[in-house]
Amino acid sequence: MFRVTRSATEEGILRHKILHEVSAGLSIFFLVRRPSWVFQCVKDKGCRRQPRVNSTVPEGTVLYDTVDVCRTVCGAQGGLWPRPQSVTLGTHFVKIHPDSLRFDFVDAPTETKELLEEMGGVLTFNLLAECGGTVTEAAELPVAVYVSVKSSDVSLTWLTDEQYTLEVQSKTDELSVRVTAETVYGARHGLETFSQLVTGNRTDPTRTRCGLLAVTGVKIKDHPAYAHRGFLLDTSRNFIPMHDIKRMIDGMATTKLNVFHWHVTDTHSFPLESKRVPQFTRYGAYTPQEVYSTAEVNKLVQYARVRGIRVVIEIDAPAHAGNGWQWGQEHGFGDLAVCVNAEPWRSLCIQPPCGQLNPANSEVYRFLKELYTDIADAIPQPPLLHMGGDEVFMNCWNSSQEIVSYMTSRGYDLSTDGYMRLWGEFQSKVLDIWDDILHEAGVKTKQPVMLWSSELTQIRHIKRYLRKDRYVIEVWEPKESPLLNQLTTLGYRVISIPKNVWYLDHGFWGNTKYANWRRIYEYKLPKNKFVLGGEVAMWTEFVDSQALDGRVWPRTASVAERLWSDPSSSWRTSEPRLQRLRTRLVARGLRPDVINPGWCAQNDMRCT
Ligand SMILES: *[C@@H]1O[C@H](CO)[C@@H](O)[C@H](O)[C@H]1NC(C)=O
Ligand SMILES: *[C@@H]1O[C@H](CO)[C@@H](O)[C@H](O)[C@H]1NC(C)=O
Ligand SMILES: *[C@@H]1O[C@H](CO)[C@@H](O)[C@H](O)[C@H]1NC(C)=O
Repeated sequence: MFRVTRSATEEGILRHKILHEVSAGLSIFFLVRRPSWVFQCVKDKGCRRQPRVNSTVPEGTVLYDTVDVCRTVCGAQGGLWPRPQSVTLGTHFVKIHPDSLRFDFVDAPTETKELLEEMGGVLTFNLLAECGGTVTEAAELPVAVYVSVKSSDVSLTWLTDEQYTLEVQSKTDELSVRVTAETVYGARHGLETFSQLVTGNRTDPTRTRCGLLAVTGVKIKDHPAYAHRGFLLDTSRNFIPMHDIKRMIDGMATTKLNVFHWHVTDTHSFPLESKRVPQFTRYGAYTPQEVYSTAEVNKLVQYARVRGIRVVIEIDAPAHAGNGWQWGQEHGFGDLAVCVNAEPWRSLCIQPPCGQLNPANSEVYRFLKELYTDIADAIPQPPLLHMGGDEVFMNCWNSSQEIVSYMTSRGYDLSTDGYMRLWGEFQSKVLDIWDDILHEAGVKTKQPVMLWSSELTQIRHIKRYLRKDRYVIEVWEPKESPLLNQLTTLGYRVISIPKNVWYLDHGFWGNTKYANWRRIYEYKLPKNKFVLGGEVAMWTEFVDSQALDGRVWPRTASVAERLWSDPSSSWRTSEPRLQRLRTRLVARGLRPDVINPGWCAQNDMRCT
């Protein structure tokens, strides 16, 4: 038996003390009285507000001081999000304290212990967060967390076994928390679920005293419906500082999403530092400060891994590449990209500024190889690369004399089909490059890569240019599009990202429609072994760190539950749990959007 690492816990405590002091400072301006309300858990209806005195509820009814405490035990799944596949919840609470939390990782392979200790640190942080960083009430029982893991494999892939079981029982001398899992990542999910069985209980109106309550008599058996549960963040349209990205990772970990799809570059800016090719950020970053250094990227990858999340870096190509690639002529390498920042832009790209890599210039492949090598260095093996591949504009390539001559020399005509051949050639060259890099790095088997759906992935072209054992296609067509089913019928593995429901920027431009959490929740993926999962996307044309949290949360949680639990029930019965998730995210330092008026949050299902 040993305690969680001091550093992780202390960092957690410190972060929360700061948050707490700010809120304590504010609260002295208000004279808060003991609330007139208590909360009752009503069968199938969630938590409902009741007057504290002379309540009309029958004698013997349990009443809770806060709605969060009520929600933790109310309903079949209490306050858990995403809902577990199978769960039995008790109704009794035990007071616990983070100081009397002990971890036992004896039943886990050595290779997993470092990760487990860090995962324990995250759990401690999350428990403290329920009380704003300081738990003032004493424990009734110490907590012993027994974690058993079978596999020594700590890689994160589509084959990673994420199932776990969790049991919480009060014994005479301890609250026993037992997590069993095949992998360390399954164990992490179990610890996350345990944290959601614990709630802060504010015991006085000035909010200076707070106790932690843990539900006992719990049995959970859980596994994800889909292996790929992604959140896409674009950091090219607008730069998103690293601490904001980490906060998004915290939200992902809370909701058991497991892939951070980092759309790090685009035509607008190139913020990803390449040690091998410093020109990318020198010419591509908005400012020297708006750069992700290699050291920061390495830290982020580790931060995500401790939270069960794989980082998938996307270098969009051959389109969506411009700023960051415009230094070729100056350095004697010719044009690495064409149409960069060209005007008028409308016929040359989807949105300004334009830019497309120049497949006629062999130097492009040399610098892509350097960049991919940097990425392979940053990501634990086996790395998964997203090669982009959307929205190639034939007109842009067709406007370059160099490319037209290259086409002619290769015997490609200047029709759309000719340009498909050029694109296919580009794709096969970059895949070879990636294979070479991984081979040199000692990865034994050829790894699949991800690619956006496009003209090239239409069924009339795809078989000719993209092998189904090598490419996983991310389909971003509207949910009504037949493409996803067509591709799975051909045997291609796909990731679903239906733009008219799971694009979080919709509703902020053009005639796109905002999808609220309910609409997002209702989209169901086709049931098919070739559908690896889905993603929700935050494109950042119209958001930066100022409004990021509210744009992303809590809507992203809808996707998370769809991909983890794939419930057959509608959003209606989920709303009380989503309310609880929201207060949890707030406690953990996120700033999610509100779901409805406070009265509705105190009267579950009376506003639906
Ligand atoms: C509550 O009930 C008590 C006695 O049953 C009565 O004296 C008191 O006036 C009631 N208070 C309110 C606010 O109705
Ligand atoms: C929460 O704290 C209050 C004190 O204000 C206490 O009366 C109540 O019993 C606590 N709730 C539980 C479930 O222990
Ligand atoms: C490229 O330009 C030529 C004329 O220069 C035209 O005939 C051809 O249709 C164009 N190709 C595409 C795909 O637009």
